[in-house]
Amino acid sequence: MRAYWVIFVIGCGSAVPADSDDPLPARCAGPLPAFATREAGTLTTRCGDLEVSARPLAGGIIQLRYGSVVERSWAVVEAPVDDPEATLGGDGDRAVACTAAMTVAIDTQCRVRATLADGTVIVDDVELAAGDRLRLVRAAQPDRVYGLGERTGGLDKRGRAWTFWNTDAYDPAHGGWAPDQDPLYQSIPFAVHVNAGVAHGLFVDQPRRMVFDYTDPGRDVIDAEARSLEQYLIAGPRMAEVVERYTRLTGRPALPPRWALGFHQSRWGYPDGGTLEAIAERFRRDGIPADALWLDIQHLRGFRTFTVDDAFSQASLDRVRALGFKVVAIADPGIKIDPGYDVYESGVAGGHFLRDASGVFSGTAWPGASAFPDFSRAATRVWWGGHVTGLRARGIDGIWLDVNEPTTFPEGGGGNTVPDELVVDGDGEPTTMAAFHNAYALEESRATFEAIAETGERPFVLSRAGYAGIQRYAAVWTGDTPSTWSGLAQTLPMLLGLGVSGVPIVGSDIGGYSGHASPELYARWMALGSISPFARAHVTDGVPGQEPWMFTDEVTELSRDLLVERYRLLPYLYSLADEAARTGAPILRPLIWEFSDDPAVAELGDQAMLGPSILVAPIVQPGTTTREVYLPAGRWFELHSGAIHEGPATITVSTTLAALPMFVREGAILPALEAGQLVLDVYPGAPSSFTLYDDTGRTTISLTAEADGASVSIARSRPSPIQVRVHRVDTALVGVDGATGHAYDADARIATATVEAANAAVRFHYDPAITELAPPITVAFEVEVPADTPGQVFIASSATGWTHEPLTRVSASLARGSLTVPRGEWFDYKVTRGSFDTVEKLADCSERANRYRFGAPSSKTITVATWRDRCN
Ligand code: GLC
Repeated sequence: MRAYWVIFVIGCGSAVPADSDDPLPARCAGPLPAFATREAGTLTTRCGDLEVSARPLAGGIIQLRYGSVVERSWAVVEAPVDDPEATLGGDGDRAVACTAAMTVAIDTQCRVRATLADGTVIVDDVELAAGDRLRLVRAAQPDRVYGLGERTGGLDKRGRAWTFWNTDAYDPAHGGWAPDQDPLYQSIPFAVHVNAGVAHGLFVDQPRRMVFDYTDPGRDVIDAEARSLEQYLIAGPRMAEVVERYTRLTGRPALPPRWALGFHQSRWGYPDGGTLEAIAERFRRDGIPADALWLDIQHLRGFRTFTVDDAFSQASLDRVRALGFKVVAIADPGIKIDPGYDVYESGVAGGHFLRDASGVFSGTAWPGASAFPDFSRAATRVWWGGHVTGLRARGIDGIWLDVNEPTTFPEGGGGNTVPDELVVDGDGEPTTMAAFHNAYALEESRATFEAIAETGERPFVLSRAGYAGIQRYAAVWTGDTPSTWSGLAQTLPMLLGLGVSGVPIVGSDIGGYSGHASPELYARWMALGSISPFARAHVTDGVPGQEPWMFTDEVTELSRDLLVERYRLLPYLYSLADEAARTGAPILRPLIWEFSDDPAVAELGDQAMLGPSILVAPIVQPGTTTREVYLPAGRWFELHSGAIHEGPATITVSTTLAALPMFVREGAILPALEAGQLVLDVYPGAPSSFTLYDDTGRTTISLTAEADGASVSIARSRPSPIQVRVHRVDTALVGVDGATGHAYDADARIATATVEAANAAVRFHYDPAITELAPPITVAFEVEVPADTPGQVFIASSATGWTHEPLTRVSASLARGSLTVPRGEWFDYKVTRGSFDTVEKLADCSERANRYRFGAPSSKTITVATWRDRCN
């Protein structure tokens, strides 16, 4: 198909045109130059065969079109409205479109120059080639480039060329995608460019094969196998505003069901319903919170999509659901070519499959020879949706859309796809797979989402592939991430990039896809998963499962703790999902999203903000015992202990296998659920507010620091008890107005009070002076020992220089006591009977590794098996 190119090149390729010191046109409403026309709100210019137009849209966006072919957009949902304030005219020999946010000037050679109101040049075409493909060379590369969807590499995407072509990126040599692999499964041609802290967006709405090349520091290149390019220039000045505008164009996610934000367990290969039941029971028995179990392709009858093998009986699935689990099933697009299989037969009868010259196109997928639905056809989406509804009726709660690039398996491995030249319906405007490829999964997701939504339920759909707008219908996971440290390290920046690209509900296979994760790798991945918007452990076939208990007892325990903490914070996560549905803001966001003025965070991709208020610094390197954490300007509170750090600062935190460093920003309002009760943790600082969402509606909460305390106001539609906890009250609470049952915990340095009324103004009176940033804290120990243990029991810890501190023996088998330790830091300890000669040992008399605790109010009972002096 690419036999010859009809190309004409305009421009000499010089870096910057001669008039570069004249960024703003003097007059926007001057007479139109001869090469331009104006119709309604669109300015169109012509140079030879090429047409370039500019159309200012309401809300800080200018739509540019290169080429006159108008193709249907799969991404844009909102019918664009002209900017009523825009002026279209001339400025000497340039055609100009002016809006409050930016100006576009097009010269006689159809080169576009776009300038923000502050004078920053954001588009500066120096070379333009059109024909069977479009190639734009632009000067003035931005300082920073974020987004571009699902990508390997760091947060800032400069320095590489990125391809937009949905690809099954599995590389057998890596058991998943290779380090630095490109492209992956998703194609989202949307970038947030930042110049001197000012952000703007560039969205190129073209699902054909395309490359954004940022390798040359002086120029950006956009190269598309297309005859036209629809582009949207999106004003900021903040990243949040750019993404809000971008997601107004391409849509925002619906609020997912609450269970979708819980923990999910998957693997390829659970052989039968009984195994699923056992897994479900184990989660409940071990007290590890979880909400969903997943069915991969082994649950299908011979890989036939929309079937359930007899090994997974209805009764079995019902028992899993009775244990409080939702069930999510995979639905692959490759439909087995199999006369007698109803999905295939109805697909043929309805003309739903892609066709080639010989009839229904046949490609190889999991079932062998397979037919592929044409999701660009409305009737096909309805047909697919009917099968989705059928699964729903069988008790399948969510749908997992995989291999939807769409993948075909060529001889010899490696993902391929259906031929570019296959014709698709294009919703009544026929085109080819070359034009539809990147949007295939988007429309498959749409068909799936809409079918579930029609049943009146909130859909939960997970999709591997996608295009701009995928967030409307599906959550996204990072596909086959290998179970390696490099895979883990690349995951956080990838999730952050997806978030900036308008896709907020994202996650990775916890433990990695290829399997055999070491206990340490799994523990670290679980920590990252526990703060990922979508949290699912998954693994490939033929390797050990990656359930939290498949590693060591220590890993089981720390996984439980991490997930319990995720569930405690679910009201916060759910509120962030609501924010994403309202504004498109990511749940997990790069620090630069929140701290756009801080150059130190411009490239920081190994830390993130969970919503506006919690900074997370997961550990992604093996053998880590300490890690550096950068805290931007302002006051930060370690999440579990309230220890204070003043930013900007780079602090070194000690870590253990269980560590997930988390810091709360001053002004934070964090809703949490503890023992079924809603709690609001507040950290007074600059005045702040938060919109809490629960299924009864929205509650607006505001927090203000006062000279003699803090005030909290709560506005909601119905009354119910909320416990408000004010953090870092260092001296006794004087009193509370507007709430009941107030109390003060001097150790935790927290004041609490309970609010019942729908609308409440609560005033905490106390001296807000901080006496010491991180005062030592007393932690409680409860130690079970063998009943015949002689004498006293002691704790020796790194926190006290490994001296032996006595506990009180409250019974033959129980000793209790406390230790004063550094607040907000991990410390190691052992149980002894007063000397290391008597230190605890495991039951088999082997040395037990140091135990560890965290310097925060908490208590936990531990059990000593035996003592050194009893071992030989
Ligand atoms: C693909 C998916 C993976 C799944 C497998 C089998 O590789 O990315 O998650 O387990 O197919 O369906």
